[in-house]
Amino acid sequence: MVSNSEDNNMIDKLSGVGPATAEKLKDAGYLDIMSIAVASPSELADAAEIGETAASKIIIDARKHANIGDFETGAKLFEKRQQVGHLTSGSKLLDELLGGGFESQAIIELFGEFGSGKTQIAHQLCVIVQLPKEKGGMNGEAFYIDTENTFRPERIVQMAEAYELDPDEVLSKIHVARAYNSNHQMLLVDKVKEYSKDFPAKLLIVDSLTAHFRAEYVGRGALADRQQKLNKHMHDLLRWGDLNNGVVCVTNQVAAKPDAFFGDPTRPIGGHIVGHTATFRIYLRKSKGPKRIARLIDSPHLPEGEAVFTISEIGIRD
Ligand code: GTP
Ligand code: MG
Repeated sequence: MVSNSEDNNMIDKLSGVGPATAEKLKDAGYLDIMSIAVASPSELADAAEIGETAASKIIIDARKHANIGDFETGAKLFEKRQQVGHLTSGSKLLDELLGGGFESQAIIELFGEFGSGKTQIAHQLCVIVQLPKEKGGMNGEAFYIDTENTFRPERIVQMAEAYELDPDEVLSKIHVARAYNSNHQMLLVDKVKEYSKDFPAKLLIVDSLTAHFRAEYVGRGALADRQQKLNKHMHDLLRWGDLNNGVVCVTNQVAAKPDAFFGDPTRPIGGHIVGHTATFRIYLRKSKGPKRIARLIDSPHLPEGEAVFTISEIGIRD
């Protein structure tokens, strides 16, 4: 169902945008008026295969129609910050690294190689979010967008039992959807928004954020498209976190960085877009046996640091 506000937001309404141009813009990831209002003439010209002058005119019209937003006072923003909740992870050290747990109204990106514990942390959060506040939870339910088919209810059962919770009840408050490709993944966020009206949803997991995008947009030519789509996706996720005062946790793999002779020869997928939109980035590394090392990178108000935690039968612990 297309709501009225979405209808008004259609890019074909802009003067200078005919059906062919609209199609090209949509293919390039310009899905609403705002994305055009903030585009540069040259990138828009490239995407729509039009001249820069024509692109400039479209952008000017988009700026007239876009809801650019108002300024908010520091006081208002401070009040909003006061409402930020913290979801604990089962490991005190990991929570401390994050200033008390996984923040609401924020995107926390977990990145690291296979087996580093991203999916395990995601499962753990789905259980703890259901606990009351005084036990480190948020009294809420969880959404899990699963792109790699790695959600395992039996792990949830083990983790729930460790907190003496009824596993069936815990499972009934985790809403899982398989995403079959990147477009499907993005559409599922709309579903999440819709369903969030029906119950107190406090956690949204996307595991993995980047796998489909990485597989579908191959080669240099596809990079701009991929980043544009990822950017929109991340902003949709952040908006959900804001509206619901919820925690958004996404996972990301690392790719080999062939030109790194020194330091860590890996880097997260999705480059700057994911890195700049995520509020917290946690780099996970494997250590001995069940031990894992989490490193906080680029946080807006916390020092960089590391925490060691373990993955066991009962979940994430110190
Ligand atoms: P990719 O999705 O492949 O990139 O990896 P990931 O970072 O999501 O890894 P994941 O969170 O799935 O971690 C897998 C690791 O967790 C395994 O290698 C095990 O070491 C550990 N693990 C998973 N389940 C259990 C369990 O039931 N008991 C114990 N003790 N460890 C487990
Ligand atoms: Mg995983």
